[in-house]
Amino acid sequence: MLSKKVKPEIRDSAAPLASTYAERYFSRDVPKHEIPAEGMPCEAAYQIIHDELNLDGNPALNLASFVTTWMEKEALQLITENVHRNFIDHDEYPQTEVIQEHVVNMLARLYHAPEEKTAVGTATVGSSEAIMLGLLSCKWQWKKRRQSEGRPDHRPNLVMGAEVHTVWEKFARYFEVEPRVVPMARDRFYVTAGEVRQLIDENTICVGAVLGTTFTGQIDPIRELNDMLLEVREKHGWDIPLHVDAASGGFITPFTDPDLEWDFRLPRVKSINVSGHKYGLVYPGVGWLLFRDEADLAPDLVFSVNYLGGEMATYTLNFSRGSSMVLAQYYNLLRLGRAGYRQIMTSILENARHLVRLLRQTGRFEFINAGEKLPIIVFRLRDDQAFSVFDISQRLREKGWIVPAYTLPPNAEDVAVLRVVAKENFSRDLAEMLAADIEAACKSLSPQRGRLPQMGKRRYNRRVC
Ligand SMILES: Cc1ncc(COP(=O)(O)O)c(C=O)c1O
Repeated sequence: MLSKKVKPEIRDSAAPLASTYAERYFSRDVPKHEIPAEGMPCEAAYQIIHDELNLDGNPALNLASFVTTWMEKEALQLITENVHRNFIDHDEYPQTEVIQEHVVNMLARLYHAPEEKTAVGTATVGSSEAIMLGLLSCKWQWKKRRQSEGRPDHRPNLVMGAEVHTVWEKFARYFEVEPRVVPMARDRFYVTAGEVRQLIDENTICVGAVLGTTFTGQIDPIRELNDMLLEVREKHGWDIPLHVDAASGGFITPFTDPDLEWDFRLPRVKSINVSGHKYGLVYPGVGWLLFRDEADLAPDLVFSVNYLGGEMATYTLNFSRGSSMVLAQYYNLLRLGRAGYRQIMTSILENARHLVRLLRQTGRFEFINAGEKLPIIVFRLRDDQAFSVFDISQRLREKGWIVPAYTLPPNAEDVAVLRVVAKENFSRDLAEMLAADIEAACKSLSPQRGRLPQMGKRRYNRRVC
């Protein structure tokens, strides 16, 4: 606190001694458009930004996001100790690069990369960068193949479901590839191999499959897609790779459902992305891209630079980035081991299913995903309700919960759902509080209750009496 003894002229001087809420910076406009001519004490700058962020949602109650909101304090210590380390400076920080390689090796084995091949991979900022890089490699490989066969190479296409994350469409637009999109149905929110088969041809650079879609958390039929692509290769000679977007599922099913085959056990799966900052349990932003074999990574994507001292190979979209989250991923892998990940993922699934049980008891909802494979709960209102999922989402927001309501992609746009992404911090207790708040929201929205606030409290009391 600034003492009362400080004279006003000192408080207004350019060299303030200290900052407080009431007496100094908080009574002036906070600079927003121009860099201020003079600075301010570090405590004041900190406090202004800290307070402004109170207007954001509470990450612990943000059930919209897949991204990690809690890590152990030792992990946080490692993150803080290394925030000043630029990951790309491999020559200056060679050990950081070695640690990246450790993680790539561990993930390649987790995803059953064939031992007789040489799997390669890289850390990325998240799955979006990993998907862009993976698909770029597919485009370049396809182009090289077409050129070597003396065939046209100017009409590449990419086949995917309407349920893919927006980054897939972004890739198609940014890198000039025709998107061929399999629509959903009113009662099916993933692709089928038959529909994908209708869209592929000799110009298909890749087929996309998702292990845990953003919309419903369901899984595309990856084995069927693999088998169909094998058949097509046999029949037409089209060498179409399968890229698996395992952004959320890649750190779950290997531990909870190890016999589910979606990874490099399937021969057409040539590349996989996973978000370290989702169920890899690391704060944002780290993702991983893995290629089954170095031959699947287009050599044209790999740049060699020498200006950081020493020759260095790089294949990322961005250059500079922090090292902390790469190190934090290694921390989690060492700290938890397979047993730790299995235990955490199993309990997240159990907590998610507990929420489903509670919501089922209300009889109000139908479940599209009841947390069968991934802890992502997607549900819609039964037809006979007088309010919408958007109303519920809004009411929950008033209590601090962030539970998104949205419509599903074409041709299921008339299906409106709520989605809860259960994460490590989503305890049994939170599940119970959320279920109670959802029921309270529904009750407050039900017809006779819904009109009451406009009638005023007194009339309400008379009415119910
Ligand atoms: C299936 C899927 N793919 C890709 C992404 C993008 O991942 P990131 O946020 O790690 O870039 C997401 C994000 O939610 C996702 O759910």
